[in-house]
Formats: sequence, structure tokens, C-alpha cells
Amino acid sequence: MSSSDSTPAGFNTRAVHAGQAFEPRTGAVVPPLHFSSTYAQDGIGGLRSGYEYGRGGNPTRDALQEQLAALEGGSHAYSFGSGLAAEDSMIRALTRPGDHIVLGNDAYGGTYRLISRVLGEWGIGNTPVDMSDLDAVAAAVAANQTRLVWVETPSNPMMKITDIAALATVAHDAGALLVVDNTFASPYLQNPLALGADVVVHSTTKYIGGHSDVVGGAIVVNDPELAEKIGFVQFAVGAVSGPMDAFLTTRGLKTLGVRMDRHSDNAQAVAEWLLQRPEVEAVLYPGLPSHPGHELAKKQMKKFGGMVSVQFKGGEQAARTVAESTSVFTLAESLGGIESLMNYPSEMTHASVKGTELAVPENLLRLSCGIEDVEDLIADLEQAFSRLQPGS
Ligand SMILES: Cc1ncc(COP(=O)(O)O)c(C=O)c1O
Repeated sequence: MSSSDSTPAGFNTRAVHAGQAFEPRTGAVVPPLHFSSTYAQDGIGGLRSGYEYGRGGNPTRDALQEQLAALEGGSHAYSFGSGLAAEDSMIRALTRPGDHIVLGNDAYGGTYRLISRVLGEWGIGNTPVDMSDLDAVAAAVAANQTRLVWVETPSNPMMKITDIAALATVAHDAGALLVVDNTFASPYLQNPLALGADVVVHSTTKYIGGHSDVVGGAIVVNDPELAEKIGFVQFAVGAVSGPMDAFLTTRGLKTLGVRMDRHSDNAQAVAEWLLQRPEVEAVLYPGLPSHPGHELAKKQMKKFGGMVSVQFKGGEQAARTVAESTSVFTLAESLGGIESLMNYPSEMTHASVKGTELAVPENLLRLSCGIEDVEDLIADLEQAFSRLQPGS
């Protein structure tokens, strides 16, 4: 649904107020959660406010969609039952059999699995490339009937930074659309539509929901023609978010800005601590001046986010030992919640791409830095590192 014209300008003001007008009958400041699956009609076809049936429209979902559009700077947003459901509906809305998707060779494993193993069966081709090599992207785009160029920046879990504006030019020159998975940055830190992207994807399960208590996904666009196509598939396929999930996501989204500031500050401190540890081979965090994407990230992001990846000199064994020795960081899939999480991608989030071009190094851990006191996060890592053998 469209974002409101009267939305105030500041990000946090929009986060709190967009789509969140108080309920007129009672004055309830928090809009009620609408569970109803169907709506009474005043005579056949006499709809009140356009609501007919829950798959097609629900006021709680609409409120979230308005909030999402306002925060990404889009005209329309669509909310789904998961990030992958959002991706699936969007790809089916915008591609046809014979079309091709050029995607980052470090895309989220589930995205690659969806594109290669599900949509591949329906005639959608794909080529994974290094998105930082724009000549390689242009060549891959030209080699096929490319409809979508797909990038994550920062990428999961290699934390690569890609120039969104430059990539948009490459895609548009070839008549393709640029899709940016903005899950890691969140709309607080980065707005791909303003940089020239055509479609923004979110796993709202992560920073947008923010509390590890809801699974969801979203698509945001700024073009009525794309919106119409995606809205049609959302309705016709029905992979929509349920009312409770939409409500929880809206509630999380209201505090996104304050959470992202804290996540980013904590991640910066953790990355700097890791950098001076002798056990560490590499720290992948765009907030470090040594990161190859640091200058670009400074340009296209507000801060550097809460995700840090680290590679160990002691290889797989060292990574496993640390992953299994923390207590403030919880060993678990997912990211972006207020609590710190530790993930071993090779066997966990990215197990589906093991042995492929998208495989993640076995000496790598991914840290989702939460909003706890940073001294406690570092003390937790310190005691986990103390379990490593000297020289490992
Ligand atoms: C960057 C990224 N995109 C998309 C997804 C898929 O989202 P979901 O798990 O909500 O389906 C994930 C999930 O981890 C992700 O990390």
C-alpha cells in the first residue's frame, strides 16, 4: 500500500508513526491487531475501506507495509510470511521462463537454493559472480537474457561491500533490474532505492523484527508497474504475513534506529578487539579502515551495522571451539535480534551451499552483535578464546 503523504521527514519519527494512526473509535494509541479473516459487506460488493478477505488485505499488514515503504523511501511495500517467500513471489512476478538472474557469489545460501534448485526447475537460469568486479557482472549480464541483478551488501557472511549506484547503472544499461537484499544493513543504515536500485528485499526476521520472535519478509519498490505485478502475486499466491507476525514486526520496526546505533557501536568495538588477537587470521567488518569496502560503506551506509565475521588461524577446529564456548553469545542460526548470536555458517546457515562456488570458509564464524553491554560481549569472547590451544 502507498506510504502516507503526511509522513514526517525524520527516520525515527517515520518509524514510530508511519501507518500507526490511533484508532478513531476509542483513541487507542496503538492500532488494534486485526485477526478477522473476512469482512462484512454492506450489500454485495459494498466493502468498508476496501477490505474483503484476509489474504487480499488486512489492516495490521497494511500498517506494516505503509511503515516499511516510508522507511525504505518506496511507494509500495509488501509483507510476506518469510524472507524467502518474499523473494519467491517477487521473482515469479518479475521473471518468466528463459530469464536469467545474475547474483553475488556470496549470496545467502537459502537465496541461492531458491533460485537454483526451485526456480531453476521452472526455467530461470542463474550465474553467480563477484559483485565487486563490475566488468565480470556486465559480462555475465550480457551473456544471457538477464532480468535481475541481485546483490547483498554487506553480504552474508563475507561482509563484502558492493557499489549499489554503479551496479544499478550496469543493470539498467542491459535492461535489467537491480535487486538489493538490504537485510544486513536495514533501512536505517542504507536505502538502496535512493541509490538507484529497483527492488529492495528484506528478511524482516532479522533487524526489522529485531527480537528473534517472528519470521517474515518484505519487498519494497518505488515504481507503480513493479508494485502492481508484485502485489498481484502476493494476492494470487498468498504467502502473506499473518496478523500477529505483522504486528510484532511493526512493533520491532518502531525502535529500529536506536537498536541499529547500538548494534553498530557494539560490532565496531568487537571487531577492533578481534583485530588485535593473535589467534585471528582476518576480521571482516566494513567499519574497519583495513576492510576493502570501508570507504564505499562510509559513502552508502550511515553506520556499519551489527554483523562481524572472523576467520581463525587455527582453522575449522578453532572456529568450532570458540562457537561452542560462549555464554552471552548464543550459538544459533539467524541474526539481527537484540541478543548476540554466534553462527558457524559452513555447517549452519550456509550448509546448503557447502561444496559449491558459494561455500563459506570452514575457519569462519559470524557474530551478530546484540545490544548488551559491550564489555560483557568482549569478556565472553575473551573466555572463549582462552580455550584455544596456544598457537592455534
Ligand atoms: C541476507 C538474507 N536474505 C534472506 C534471508 C531469508 O529470510 P527468511 O529466513 O526470513 O526466509 C536470510 C535469512 O537468513 C538472509 O540472511
